[in-house]
Amino acid sequence: MSQIRPTTVHIDLDRLVHNLGLVRAMQPEGTKILCAVKANAYGHGLVECGLTLEKAGADWFGVALLEEGKLLRAAGVQTPILCLSGIGGKLKAAEQALDHQLTPMVFDMDSARALNQAARAQGQLVKIHLKVDTGMGRLGVTLDHWDAFIQGITGLDSLEVQGLATHFASAEEDPAFTQQQARRFRDAKRILQSHGIEPSVVHASNSAGATLYEDLAFSMVRPGLALYGHAPAPQVKGLRPVMQVSTEVLFVKEIPANYGVSYGLRWVSERPTRLATLPVGYADGYSRALSNKAEVSIHGHRCPVRGTVCMDLCLVDVTDLPRAVRPGDRVELMGDQIPAEELAAHAGTIVYEILTGLSGRVPRRH
Ligand SMILES: Cc1ncc(COP(=O)(O)O)c(C=O)c1O
Repeated sequence: MSQIRPTTVHIDLDRLVHNLGLVRAMQPEGTKILCAVKANAYGHGLVECGLTLEKAGADWFGVALLEEGKLLRAAGVQTPILCLSGIGGKLKAAEQALDHQLTPMVFDMDSARALNQAARAQGQLVKIHLKVDTGMGRLGVTLDHWDAFIQGITGLDSLEVQGLATHFASAEEDPAFTQQQARRFRDAKRILQSHGIEPSVVHASNSAGATLYEDLAFSMVRPGLALYGHAPAPQVKGLRPVMQVSTEVLFVKEIPANYGVSYGLRWVSERPTRLATLPVGYADGYSRALSNKAEVSIHGHRCPVRGTVCMDLCLVDVTDLPRAVRPGDRVELMGDQIPAEELAAHAGTIVYEILTGLSGRVPRRH
């Protein structure tokens, strides 16, 4: 991709390290931190973030896909990597997990058997983390089936249960339900222990859990969002956004009053207006849902988006800026002036989707 293009994502790796330190300081002494770097480190660049976090003392990495784990290993990352979405019951995936020293989350017997078979064929033990569903309803074995599942696991002699995990459904907004999940998690751990299995890594908390409930750290927490500088709840302070998205003005023009602009003419000027055309659109991840809603920052002033956001372009109103805007002037689309949270609210979504939605054609500068 051409580096001439002015639309870029700037990633501040110092802020990433700052946020890791802040999350670590909120945990009881000795708590391990698994850094969630799935989905290209939430759009921030998997390898760059992985190498930076490893140097800064990350204890584990969490990826969704084996492929993401393999990319980290290819980049030289030595830190343990947990594949949060498991291996889908496939022998080939089990073999790859072993080959690349990726630790799978396991919540079904097909995956357990595949891993057992792959490990036995290589004459080794494979470390796994078991996942119990305590109320998220997504991945994990429900408590009703937990005892039978553990019995099945104990019959497979090439597996080593290193970890036990669950996932909170609404830690940022429902403390009572979160504590109920934690009680079920402790029950699951007791059942596991009754089968003679003592997991050394026990983890439940995402960013919300890790920043709001010191008592639910168990032995490891799994933050994602907080590392990238976004607070899971308003009371969490001190995180610094890692990603900034900026561009440059491509073109400036004056239109008369009563002049409709962009597809569908969904904005019509009420007065003579100066518009700047920006080289960014929904194909870059600047959502069409931001049409007529979002603002950008130019010369430190906010300018509203006018009309429909197009595939590669959008328009902003620069009429009221004290200093004339010219092609080449810098524009902040997201960052310290225009928080990702604000864009998410305009687009009717969450910050996660804004961060991960920035497309591959926007170069990342670290
Ligand atoms: C299993 C698991 N753990 C941890 C995380 C990190 O969550 P967050 O980004 O909210 O901290 C995720 C992300 O969705 C996840 O799926």
